Amino acid sequence: MYQINDNYLKLPGSYLFSTIGKKVAAYSAANPDKNIIRLGIGDVTQPIAPSIIAAMHKAVDEMGNAETFHGYAPDLGYEFLRDAIAKNDYQARGCNISADEIFVSDGAKSDSGNIQEIFSTDNRIAVCDPVYPVYVDSNVMAGRTGTYDPKTETWSNVIYMPCTAENHFVPELPKETPDMIYLCLPNNPTGTTLTKGQLQEWVDYANKVGAVIIYDAAYEAYISEDNVAHSIYECKGATTCAIELRSFSKNAGFTGVRLGFTVVPKELKCNDVSLHALWARRHGTKFNGAPYIVQRAGEAVYSEAGKRELKAQVAYYMNNAKTIKNGLKDAGYEVYGGTNAPYIWLKTPNNMTSWEFFDYLLENANVVGTPGSGFGPSGEGYFRLTAFGNYENTVKALERIKAL
Ligand code: MLT
Repeated sequence: MYQINDNYLKLPGSYLFSTIGKKVAAYSAANPDKNIIRLGIGDVTQPIAPSIIAAMHKAVDEMGNAETFHGYAPDLGYEFLRDAIAKNDYQARGCNISADEIFVSDGAKSDSGNIQEIFSTDNRIAVCDPVYPVYVDSNVMAGRTGTYDPKTETWSNVIYMPCTAENHFVPELPKETPDMIYLCLPNNPTGTTLTKGQLQEWVDYANKVGAVIIYDAAYEAYISEDNVAHSIYECKGATTCAIELRSFSKNAGFTGVRLGFTVVPKELKCNDVSLHALWARRHGTKFNGAPYIVQRAGEAVYSEAGKRELKAQVAYYMNNAKTIKNGLKDAGYEVYGGTNAPYIWLKTPNNMTSWEFFDYLLENANVVGTPGSGFGPSGEGYFRLTAFGNYENTVKALERIKAL
């Protein structure tokens, strides 16, 4: 008789964004005349940039011609894309990362869920609290997190690093020693960044205690301050302790196209075992590569026209962020984030819980946001609005919130 992986049974409820989706669908079905504005999940709204669309069209035509047709993509991804990434995202910033340390994939979400598979289930993880829920959820599925306490909404074997208004949402080095440290910077949902100096402290700490950092840089395109690192490899010693995850979803609008990559430096070793070799094995076997057409689209992100168009797109979303931030401040809200990230993190008014505020906003303003508690226990009493909507809806949503 087969058995299931009963770690899955430990997961409370459904995935945060599925829960929100279901709630909004139910509200919408009961109130079909309401015009709902969705500022919940961080999904982009602007169309893919023209130079990228042109590259995709060209690649589609190539696929219809026997001479230029492509079958399975190489395990690590096409060289033309890995070269463009290495050159533009790393070498141009002084990071010593080469194309063969880059593993192209169908997105940072899958990679952040899958990467834990190459580590022992005995490892103890540390996460910022609040943070993107996939890190904890995927470790629950692997059986690494111990038992769940519904009262505190915490797992017994997870080290939580609270990021609250008191510490300016900046995580402190943990008191207990973790084996794996998840850092998402700029942070989803708080929008927090660390200065290069602060990040260097994490790298030094990880090398000292023998921990690996899983560094999610999905939002790096939104960094506006000079003293903030775009990659962890801008820090000295990071190639011996860090894996970096990147996405084309937020900077190039690929949430529906799917493309990302993971950097596993060749120097990264655990007792002489190369993590690069382990992840290469995974890529060859489990094959989460992206199609040729999509990888050509990714290459166009680094073309001169692509860079120009995407800079404008990032500026568009950051203008939304400013609109939300200023509008909420005018309405008397306590607001954070929105400077180096497309997320606004606000304190819920009148001591409402995150989910109470979610319902209040949905029912009274027909605006959808994301309850802070969905990102971890320290997110309780907070709420996230995304700047990824279109400008007209963002302005309308703010007018409705101000009128409450
Ligand atoms: C978010 O809204 O936090 C993200 O868009 C979710 C995701 O990337 O999976």
